[in-house]
Amino acid sequence: MKKIAIFASGTGSNFLAINDALNVNSNIAEVELLVSDKPNSLVVKHAQKLNKNVFTFTPKDFSRKIEYENIILSKLEEHEIDLIVLAGYMRIIGKTILSKYNKKIINIHPSLLPSFKGIDAIGQAIEHKVKVTGVTVHYVDEGVDTGEIIAQKSLDISSLNSREEIEKEIHKIEHLLYPNTIIKLLEE
Ligand code: GAR
Repeated sequence: MKKIAIFASGTGSNFLAINDALNVNSNIAEVELLVSDKPNSLVVKHAQKLNKNVFTFTPKDFSRKIEYENIILSKLEEHEIDLIVLAGYMRIIGKTILSKYNKKIINIHPSLLPSFKGIDAIGQAIEHKVKVTGVTVHYVDEGVDTGEIIAQKSLDISSLNSREEIEKEIHKIEHLLYPNTIIKLLEE
């Protein structure tokens, strides 16, 4: 049984979708640990309710990224984590973690990369009036949303009338694409 750590900062809908999918395919992997830079976030509450191991920290308590990443690293090692899954983790992973988990960190981003990297990808798609956007799962490297693409799914937004509708459809795609991609990677 492989062990994954999910890093998240927000609502945690992807955290829940991944956990559910792994519970159904229960011989492949389990969510062993949640890491969050937002101790009061909804995702932390979800994880606690599910009795998951949770590590939270407040970045401004540290003067340098290396300090909190070293603590995270010790948690990852303690829990023998095979794969790190970023699910709405709104921080850049530093060298400390990257060098130990090369090609073992993946991220989901709500656009068809390389379009609309960075913050508010859905807002950027609306701003540019694109007809098609989507979701990308990619390996994490030292850049922002630049790592090798693993999986993508497009979404025609030409008939969707509000940001809320687009977000809802993007989430629907994410909640299937991310668990399926994780399972495929872990089965390789
Ligand atoms: C997801 O839509 C994910 O693609 C996005 O944050 C959301 C988290 O939702 N990630 C990024 O924008 C990363 N650049 P969730 O907390 O409900 O899973």
